[in-house]
Amino acid sequence: MKKQYNWAILGCGKIARKFSEDLKLLPQANLYAAASRNIERAQEFANELGYQKAYGSYTELVQDPQVDVIYIATPHSHHHEHALLCLRHKKAVLCEKAFAINLREAQEMVACAKENNTFLMEAFWTRFQPSFLKAREILQAEKLGKLKMVRSDFAFNAEKNADKRLYNTDLGGGSLLDIGIYPVFASLMALGKPSELKTMVNFGFTGAEESILMSFKYPNGAMASLASSFASHSSIQTEYWCEKGYLRLNKRWFAPTQISIWEAGMDHEEAVPVEEIEGKGYQFEAEHVMQCLDNGQIESPKMSFQTSLDLIETLDKVRADAGIVFAGHD
Ligand SMILES: NC(=O)c1ccc[n+]([C@@H]2O[C@H](COP(=O)([O-])OP(=O)(O)OC[C@H]3O[C@@H](n4cnc5c(N)ncnc54)[C@H](OP(=O)(O)O)[C@@H]3O)[C@@H](O)[C@H]2O)c1
Repeated sequence: MKKQYNWAILGCGKIARKFSEDLKLLPQANLYAAASRNIERAQEFANELGYQKAYGSYTELVQDPQVDVIYIATPHSHHHEHALLCLRHKKAVLCEKAFAINLREAQEMVACAKENNTFLMEAFWTRFQPSFLKAREILQAEKLGKLKMVRSDFAFNAEKNADKRLYNTDLGGGSLLDIGIYPVFASLMALGKPSELKTMVNFGFTGAEESILMSFKYPNGAMASLASSFASHSSIQTEYWCEKGYLRLNKRWFAPTQISIWEAGMDHEEAVPVEEIEGKGYQFEAEHVMQCLDNGQIESPKMSFQTSLDLIETLDKVRADAGIVFAGHD
């Protein structure tokens, strides 16, 4: 019989709901507590999702000795503060992406995890999707030859509401840290950190970055063309162009349900068989966290500290080129 873990939610917003639904799929996970800045909201969330306890502050949550692991689902602007709060109380942390606002904050979070000998991982769920892993395996085996170009996008026409997180610069608003991080992740997983980059950017009605185009180049000559936007919809696909063919992760590529492959000489693209999954796919990262905790690890071997630091470092470079500043953080 495997150890059961008492999970807690910090910040009862939209993604916390979806994550909790998938957490129910895991027998090892016990939906234990939900914490909000407002006790009524915490109680309502706990009742709806089946958590045993509700707290009206994040501080009360971290003081509960029964809590094993906390999922941080607040805006990116607050991940650093909330991760430090949890880690200093020796609570294992699964922290939503973007891990932090900048590299400095992410480095402090990693240092805090090490000082407190406590688990910390960025909740980059794509890294754990069985279909994404299958695509990665094909690329790494160089079945299609060497990878030369990554083309990846993520855009949707977001509500133009200054009070909501997406356009609020105080909350790390803008498409880059919310959804542009996915195309950057798609290229990081395949090619590592770029040696050169260039951007084009449009800012929206609040001054938050609204659309961004990113061009990356790597030491081996490979390149990436990446984009994100809150101004329009896009096909939400990632293509890996290789010497002998290409691989495409179809809509919505970050949790892909369809992958197409084409090799030179083929008349048509072929579908790569992918397994059907239950739920939305957030269970895989949570399952992995519990495996790490079972093993006594404070760092995931799959979504390592270095991967998160490389990702945020690249995002910092993109922001520097594009002129995207987060006052109070940078
Ligand atoms: N992995 C994914 O697929 C995915 C999808 C969407 C979002 N995300 C990430 O998850 C995080 C949360 O996104 P979301 O869409 O769930 O946001 P959301 O609906 O706005 O929820 C964020 C929650 O954070 C809490 N919070 C604490 N301080 C806050 C502040 N100063 N202002 C606003 N809210 C504050 C609030 O909870 P209380 O009021 O209950 O305290 C709020 O409900 C973001 O970092 C985002 O990038 C990931």
